[in-house]
Amino acid sequence: MIIAIDGPSASGKSTTAKGVSNKLGFTHIDTGSMYRAVTLGLSHENIMIDDHNRIISYLENLNIKFDSNDHIVLNGENVSNAIRTVEISSKVSMISAIPEIRSKMVDLQRSIAGKSDCVLEGRDIGTVVFPNADYKFYMIADINIRAKRRLTELKQINESATIEEIISSIKIRDELDSKRSHSPLKKAMDAIEIDTSLLSINQQIEKIVKIVKQNKKET
Ligand code: DC
Repeated sequence: MIIAIDGPSASGKSTTAKGVSNKLGFTHIDTGSMYRAVTLGLSHENIMIDDHNRIISYLENLNIKFDSNDHIVLNGENVSNAIRTVEISSKVSMISAIPEIRSKMVDLQRSIAGKSDCVLEGRDIGTVVFPNADYKFYMIADINIRAKRRLTELKQINESATIEEIISSIKIRDELDSKRSHSPLKKAMDAIEIDTSLLSINQQIEKIVKIVKQNKKET
């Protein structure tokens, strides 16, 4: 079974996807972390965004996987914290708009998800990666609430930013993610929209779990 959860950054996708996968015993795949890992890798190798040939050869030897603790591992190294910095956040939208990178990530996502029941979160899961997903959800939230959530995350990795800086970077990212030509951020026609602005994490998780369990009973 595939559950697709899409939506803009800090709309509540990650915590919800993790909670839903725990409750249902499914594998969780945070596809945003995969684009962040590539961004980190390219930055470590000093490969510029317009250096097409080096990007292609970097992708050929790239190894991204998730370990049993849901950590993202890039070429053997756990990069779960390193991919969350302000620097990586500011570059990832540009990197994830590159068609060859998208195609490699989508192949990887389909291959990982082919092994078990999964909850995948991202921007294009219900529209491109798994257009026939069993369940599709699209999460949204008020921009101020999204910024506060991002600030809390940054504090956890000892990064600092003002709320105004975060709001501005979220707006830039929303714009880039939804206007790019390849697989833009878009609500799938058949996705159920959930506004998480006033919901607790448990309420977000329960909304989805309830829908999935209800349907299972009916079929
Ligand atoms: O969910 P996130 O903020 O960690 O995602 C980081 C970036 O990755 C986001 O700005 C857009 C990109 N992304 C994407 O293009 N497609 C996905 N399926 C997931 C993320």
